[in-house]
Amino acid sequence: MTFATLHWKTGYDTEVEEIDLQHRYFMSLINRLHAELASTTDAEYRRKLFDELTKYASFHFVSEENLMIKFGYPDHDLHHALHRQLIDELSWRSQSKSEEELFDFLIRWFIEHTVQEDQRFGDYVKNLAVGAA
Ligand SMILES: [Fe+2]
Repeated sequence: MTFATLHWKTGYDTEVEEIDLQHRYFMSLINRLHAELASTTDAEYRRKLFDELTKYASFHFVSEENLMIKFGYPDHDLHHALHRQLIDELSWRSQSKSEEELFDFLIRWFIEHTVQEDQRFGDYVKNLAVGAA
């Protein structure tokens, strides 16, 4: 796959407002960083761009996991492990793989994880709301 600008689809929504806001931002960040990396050979700047990407991913994961704790999500530990794996994989790939491979991997992971794992949490929150009504 060659990189094409990502656009949000309603099918990605989890309907947990905070998560959807962060996912949208993450997608725009991927687009911006990909374009910026293609425009520079400055090694220090490039390192900092990758840093921006991994730091935002880390922030977003902690934020999502805190919502899982708040709502008593039973699969929180498993979800945390999936996030951990991604962060490890990103740091490994950023050193050993080409930029295109790294972005392909990240985009595939992000979309799959969002529509499968994060939506399971979204469904759980929706069911809690139904139960409480
Ligand atoms: Fe997640």
